[in-house]
Amino acid sequence: MAVAGSEDARQSRRPVAIIGASGALGFGLGIRLAQAGVPIEIGSRDPGRVSDALDRARAAVPSGYFTAHENADAVRAADTIILSVPFRNQSETLTSIRDALSPGQLLIDASVPLAAAVSGKATRMLGVWQGSAAQQAREMVPDGVRVVSALHTVSAASLADLDHPLEQDVLICGDSRDDKLRAASLIERIDGLRCVDCGPLEMARTTESLTALMIEVKIRYTSHAGIHLTGLPEALWEWPRESPGPTPTTLRS
Ligand SMILES: NC(=O)c1ccc[n+]([C@@H]2O[C@H](COP(=O)([O-])OP(=O)(O)OC[C@H]3O[C@@H](n4cnc5c(N)ncnc54)[C@H](OP(=O)(O)O)[C@@H]3O)[C@@H](O)[C@H]2O)c1
Repeated sequence: MAVAGSEDARQSRRPVAIIGASGALGFGLGIRLAQAGVPIEIGSRDPGRVSDALDRARAAVPSGYFTAHENADAVRAADTIILSVPFRNQSETLTSIRDALSPGQLLIDASVPLAAAVSGKATRMLGVWQGSAAQQAREMVPDGVRVVSALHTVSAASLADLDHPLEQDVLICGDSRDDKLRAASLIERIDGLRCVDCGPLEMARTTESLTALMIEVKIRYTSHAGIHLTGLPEALWEWPRESPGPTPTTLRS
């Protein structure tokens, strides 16, 4: 599909595929990452929605490099995939992209099992047999596909408002420090996001539930609310020598 933006960005990095990029969180992540120079593969189930999302993304970040595809093709084009679909559709979406996933790819799961998936309250959680949406995702992907859980406390509204400084933390869970580092080095390219290692993937049960908390906070105050942990050391990640991390400023306290 159509292409826009800087050739430099295309040459320098493989794109990140966002499954659900036509939706609230996926779109906000897509434009923020594109603003930071990350090529974005907009994934969708629907040609009309993917085309609309592409137009909106180009309008929001004219300098961004965007391509747009049906979900499975977007997955094939990327090393990292962000899964940002409603929990009620997480399982069917993973089934639909399963054959396109390959060993070594990193899946960042942002799904939250809110009770809204079964017509319940958006401020209540569903029990997931595996423990969390992220653990369900790990169970469904082919062997060798790495899964981390992240981004649950970052609101779509704050991402989409490009004039809004983020200045907040992203809680990352996963069973491999290298996978979490890989996710952090991508996410911290978004100015104002600091990633915090929150332990193994089973901790996603807790971090996912913080979305319900953030919804209550949003109702009372603002949809731009985020979280920030205090008292942490300045350097939270040991970046490999050849990859010193996204920008020095992201390692602030
Ligand atoms: N919104 C937030 O602020 C926020 C914050 C933290 C976490 N989350 C979590 O992130 C995930 C995405 O949230 P969201 O608010 O971006 O969701 P959304 O806007 O309702 O949907 C995101 C995308 O999911 C895709 N999708 C796949 N199967 C679908 C189906 N059967 N019906 C409808 N859409 C389907 C759609 O893309 P296509 O139609 O193009 O395929 C849709 O644009 C959720 O699990 C949510 O809990 C959201």
